[in-house]
Amino acid sequence: MSDKKTFYITTPIYYPSDNLHIGHAYTTVAADTMARYKKMRGFDTYFLTGSDEHGQKIQRRAHAAGKQPQEFVNEIIINFKHLWRVLEIDNDDFIRTTDEHHIRICQELFQKIYDQGDIYKSEYTGWYCTDCETFFTELQVGEGHVCPDCGRAVETMKEESYFFRMNKYADRWLQFMTDNPDFIRPESRRNEMINFVRQGLEDLCVSRTTFDWGIPVPFDQKHVIYVWFDALINYISALKGQGDGSLYEKFWPADVHLVGKDIIRFHTIIWPIMLMALDLPLPECVLGHGWVLIDSDKMSKSKGNVIDPIYLCEKYGVEAVRYFLMREMGYGLDCNYSEELLGRRINNDLANDYGNLLSRTTGMIEKFQGSVIEPPVEPTEFDAELIAMAKAIPEKFGRLMDKMEWANALSELWKLVNKANKYIDDAAPWALNKAGQQGKLSSVLYNMAEVLRFVTIMAAPVMPGLPKRVWRQLGIAEQTQLHTWESLEWGRLPAGTKISRGEPLFPRIDLAALAAEAKPEAPEAPAAPAMEPIAPTCTIDDFARLDLRVVKVLACEKVANTDKLLKFTLELGTEQRTVLSGIAEFYQPDELLGKNLVLIANLQPVKIRGIESQGMLLSAMEGKKLRVIEAPDMPSGAKIS
Ligand code: MSP
Repeated sequence: MSDKKTFYITTPIYYPSDNLHIGHAYTTVAADTMARYKKMRGFDTYFLTGSDEHGQKIQRRAHAAGKQPQEFVNEIIINFKHLWRVLEIDNDDFIRTTDEHHIRICQELFQKIYDQGDIYKSEYTGWYCTDCETFFTELQVGEGHVCPDCGRAVETMKEESYFFRMNKYADRWLQFMTDNPDFIRPESRRNEMINFVRQGLEDLCVSRTTFDWGIPVPFDQKHVIYVWFDALINYISALKGQGDGSLYEKFWPADVHLVGKDIIRFHTIIWPIMLMALDLPLPECVLGHGWVLIDSDKMSKSKGNVIDPIYLCEKYGVEAVRYFLMREMGYGLDCNYSEELLGRRINNDLANDYGNLLSRTTGMIEKFQGSVIEPPVEPTEFDAELIAMAKAIPEKFGRLMDKMEWANALSELWKLVNKANKYIDDAAPWALNKAGQQGKLSSVLYNMAEVLRFVTIMAAPVMPGLPKRVWRQLGIAEQTQLHTWESLEWGRLPAGTKISRGEPLFPRIDLAALAAEAKPEAPEAPAAPAMEPIAPTCTIDDFARLDLRVVKVLACEKVANTDKLLKFTLELGTEQRTVLSGIAEFYQPDELLGKNLVLIANLQPVKIRGIESQGMLLSAMEGKKLRVIEAPDMPSGAKIS
């Protein structure tokens, strides 16, 4: 048996009734990125995705479309598989819950739990949301009888059902969570789940009789197995149901179930308890990521705000879309999508930072050294710092990737890209060339090319199509030993390599044209100003994640070549922060000097026009009027709650 380390990662299996949008694409791209990264680190990986095809919702939609459910889902699955190909998803298997082997394993496991007395027959009386395929109590649906998750009307349900003795396992579950603090990630979700279980766990209704599009209960054919019980089994049936069972031996328990925050309860409470009842080992962890939001609202077909990933890939290229998704969503947090945000990321990170580094490097090697990478002969005074940083990045980047903090890992990697661009400005190879300092020139150009090799290797799991194009330009397409994680040793790039300059990899997006495209037509008669709609309800925990602080304005200036941006130097207790704010139309730079304002101090830093903005100043806006929020007479650093 091989002693190679294994890594098994899954996405949720998607409902075929929904148009897959960039929210779904996020989960799958993230899992793909992680699987590719682990493979690069030498793991034997298995990456599973698939489709969740049973249940009342699908049956109804199929009937509404005048089709049999199987025919209905078969057509949709073709689109799923096409989307994953466009997004360069390299999954090892695509399980469908209508696959024969899944049905067989699901029935076997249901039977096993029944035989040991953990499934019993009773009657269900309560509420059901068909869209979420979830049971709710009277208390949860409230007087309005709406689903607490999706807000749609729920249906009353009274039918004979089988129940799974969840309650019996509550203490064991709580003990497991205490012993395995990293099982539910991030921690905020773990606390939520623990509080939920502490309030008391009810047995779960696991069969239905009022429709038949599902897996029959093996010992009572009048019933079909509850769609979530059926769906969760996929993580095991995909391995166990095929071949000689060696896949299961090798890969179970899973290392990561990657899921959106809306379905974390199913994966961290119901699924572990099913596994406990089956006496099977539990996965290593469940990571609940946030949502991709549009204008701070969840994307959904019924709201008409879904964004088609295929359209974006065709317009901007798949690498840019994948990079955007992985860079934009912070660990466990929601992120906003707009075409403008995507355009900005492409322009700043890909075209300006990375793309420029490549075109400057290849351009200067072509111009000054006849397209040959010469050996580094004489270091400049700027070399040591750049090289030290490059040498340290693989470890830092790897640590963040292992923790699945993809946005932070990319941000760390881009520090090296920016450092290299600054290094070019400082070392000024054009001046070295002019002064005939060939020894120093060759060092600078070598270092630039080697940094590019480093960054490209590490960026490959996120943008798998990128390296091939870069290796061609750097002249190392055939030297595959230089494309691996193990080759991240400074200085492996061989001198004498002939480069081949190519087209820019990431063309800049014309943001002004994009804004004009997106601008809605002016209404004929302007209506009376309406108040912005109140955002969806958040919990006190959501609010507590923001660290709001009083800051004092020490300096403020306009950012060159922009109409909107002011650059603030702020005092935050004993620290200083640089923050950019798009309020130049409303304030002169000196107007706010010495004032105490309010800052979101723990907002992930962003780079705008090459300047890192470390937080956001709060302001109120109504129509064309904007005023910053002031906190007079409070010391800087004071916390706002
Ligand atoms: N079929 C169930 C999963 C069963 S797994 C045993 C399901 N399917 S789904 O198609 O509705 O959603 C699949 C995944 O997409 C979920 O993890 C969900 O959180 C994710 N997303 C759906 N919309 C999303 C966003 N707008 N943003 C990020 N992820 C989102 O649930």
